Amino acid sequence: MAQVHAVCCQKGGVGKTTITVNLAAVVDQVLATDEPAVLVVGTDPQRSMDWWAHRVGDKIPFAYTETDDPAQLEQLRDLDYEHVFVDTPGSLENEHILRSVLKSADDAIVPITTEPLTFVPADTTISEVIEPLGVPFTVAINLWDARDGHVDLDDTIAFIEKKGWPRANTVIRRYKIHSRAAAEGVVCTQYAKSRVALEAQQDILRLALELGYGRTR
Ligand SMILES: Nc1ncnc2c1ncn2[C@@H]1O[C@H](COP(=O)(O)OP(=O)(O)OP(=O)(O)O)[C@@H](O)[C@H]1O
Ligand SMILES: [Mg+2]
Repeated sequence: MAQVHAVCCQKGGVGKTTITVNLAAVVDQVLATDEPAVLVVGTDPQRSMDWWAHRVGDKIPFAYTETDDPAQLEQLRDLDYEHVFVDTPGSLENEHILRSVLKSADDAIVPITTEPLTFVPADTTISEVIEPLGVPFTVAINLWDARDGHVDLDDTIAFIEKKGWPRANTVIRRYKIHSRAAAEGVVCTQYAKSRVALEAQQDILRLALELGYGRTR
């Protein structure tokens, strides 16, 4: 039985694909099994996950597949992996795909950014899709740039708290190394060593630790 984690928000550009790939990479690294213990499933018709996976090629550390077939998505738990991370579409039109994923998900991670424009779509996804299906979820703030100061971050945290949503303490900071990774064909565990790389990796590791993903059963 696999633990299925859905990364979802019906808004483009909040970091679903980035978080999916990099959480899978750090969890795979921590589990360090001979056979792949982690599967990433791309479900977005835009196939950005697919593009990234093909750039990484043979060096990809986890198993990877692409499907939006509801029958397959609803059976992800039965697969022989420890963790399955599912990247979902960032649009309202493909809500049927998101719903199929959530039907078999153990939890959902909802990325939000410190741009107030992302608040309403996060609210829609949570209140209209995730909560009615009863899937436990955690909101994770992504793309925060310390150089922009703390005001936007504090406003985002205040919004999440007002909603009463569970929130990850970890804030995933904005680093160019993350945005270049797909084009360069790497995942965060493969970044060339540097202080920035370590900080960028640390955010993902912290989130994985908070979410309790680092163990086999
Ligand atoms: N923490 C981060 N630091 C820097 N760049 C980031 C970070 N998170 C995401 N990005 C970049 O922001 C852009 C949007 O991220 P991503 O593609 O992961 O979002 P998405 O939610 O999957 O979007 P879509 O709904 O369109 O699939 C990408 O260019 C990505 O590289
Ligand atoms: Mg995406």
